[in-house]
Amino acid sequence: MPERKFTVTAALPYSNGRLHVGHIAGCYLPADTFVRYLRSRGEDVAFICGSDDYGVPVALTARKEGKTPRQVSDHYRKVQKADFKGLGIEFDTYGGTSKPPHDEISRQFFLKAHENGYLEKRRQKQLFDPEAQMFLPDRYVEGICHHCQSPDARGDQCETCGRQIDPELLEQPRSTVTGARPEIRETVHWFFLLSKFEDRLRDWIESHTEWRPMVRNFARGLLDAGLPDRAITRDLEWGIPVPLESDPDAEGKVLYVWFDAPIGYVSFTADWCERVGRGRGDYEKWWKNPQSEIVHFIGEDNVVFHALMWPAMLMAQEDFELPSQIPANCFLNVQFPGEDERKISKSRGNAIWIGEYLSSYDPDPLRYYLTMIAPEDQRTTFKFDDFINRNNDELVACLGNLVHRTITFAHKYCEGKIPTRGSISQEDRSRLEATSKLPDIVAGRLEDYGFKAALHEIMAAARETNRYFDMRKPWVLRKENMEECKTVLNVLLNTIKTLGVVAEPFLPFAAAKISSMLACEECEFSWHAAAQALPENRPLGEAEILFAKLEHPEA
Ligand code: 2FM
Ligand code: ZN
Repeated sequence: MPERKFTVTAALPYSNGRLHVGHIAGCYLPADTFVRYLRSRGEDVAFICGSDDYGVPVALTARKEGKTPRQVSDHYRKVQKADFKGLGIEFDTYGGTSKPPHDEISRQFFLKAHENGYLEKRRQKQLFDPEAQMFLPDRYVEGICHHCQSPDARGDQCETCGRQIDPELLEQPRSTVTGARPEIRETVHWFFLLSKFEDRLRDWIESHTEWRPMVRNFARGLLDAGLPDRAITRDLEWGIPVPLESDPDAEGKVLYVWFDAPIGYVSFTADWCERVGRGRGDYEKWWKNPQSEIVHFIGEDNVVFHALMWPAMLMAQEDFELPSQIPANCFLNVQFPGEDERKISKSRGNAIWIGEYLSSYDPDPLRYYLTMIAPEDQRTTFKFDDFINRNNDELVACLGNLVHRTITFAHKYCEGKIPTRGSISQEDRSRLEATSKLPDIVAGRLEDYGFKAALHEIMAAARETNRYFDMRKPWVLRKENMEECKTVLNVLLNTIKTLGVVAEPFLPFAAAKISSMLACEECEFSWHAAAQALPENRPLGEAEILFAKLEHPEA
């Protein structure tokens, strides 16, 4: 029986472009690593993601590409899904907010919040493009940030300081549709009364002392400044129509993308439950069950929505559980050989695209590097040279080499079987003891969302095991004392099995090879069985290379 239940989500990417390493390092890789760890432990877990199809980002891309927003989102949803698959990021379900039943469940959320008195219709002044004859919500307008003076703040959020923008306060505003200077006109919108939740949000955030300081401090700072009520409707065509048919003011309005997007976590769960034959209503087990831990993996720019707005939306529904954890990573910069470190920017073309990466390299080296440089508490930089070096010096020379020399030795001198363990020396005992402790050590790090620290523990153990190999010299022992030689190989193979199991959440492709080289059954290659001894005399599988040595690209 599983011990715990987890609803794990990763931020829904806008389906308006390809994915780059920053997206993966931000939330998808840590989420997948965490879920693989939970699955390995046999926990009951739902890993939910899908595309964020509505709103201005997708509509703007469609305008630029001369397509409909639906064509754009359907296309990029497929591209992104393939990128995730190529990296071994395995969701239980991958939905899309422009597909049913998301619209229906979003309408229910809106109506329930309305019924409970948390929505209010207000007149509002808004920027309007006189050339395009349209209102300019969110990213339809850009200008200078009124918080930090950064020159390219968008109308919804400033990427530099992460704060939310009041579009009317943007300095030197310009329409992203025509470049025109916007006028101010009046319109009507429904506001979510976020201010009503301040006390409850504060108590809730204060109770979560275990969250990363970046997340907690950011949310506290916004609470201290006072939470403004937020317009949750927009004058747009692409989106879910405001479900108040009898109100003429609702005509031509859709739900704000940041209102409907997080509801996607719930609607995708409901859709999944239905598809796997448990019935749509089964989603309640994941979302309305105090036994279920809800974990939202996100990037730093999404903290405000996941730590304040979304929890308040859940409170407004009354019967939903609140998130237990919101592990957010910071942004990742990139640096190419001979160039300066830079922010990843799609428009300036300085990104490392997943599709391109996968056409030249295997997924595990990227998973490894992005975890080793994970921006868990501060921004970090992807350096291409460093990526190549760490692949060669760490994955190839340490873990790959350990596995390769052990397996080939066992094939050559131990009849291709798990050799028997005879009497053990002090060194053998220490190695076995250290190995048996490793799963708990790694689990401890992972339960604290310390992915980088967990992988460091694994690599340190691999280095120690290489040292053990060198110190015990099986190539000498085989000539002098075959029984002792077999014992050492037995210790090495068992250690490699443990390393393979605990490395699986990080390096699933390499772990699958280790499992097949050791001819393990699925149940043997699980967290609880990680330190269980391999059956002696069982034939080994073929030796395989875990990691390829990489060349530095020519300048
Ligand atoms: O920042 C983004 O890419 C958003 N599409 C994330 C949405 S997360 C969730 F709330 F859906
Ligand atoms: Zn700013």
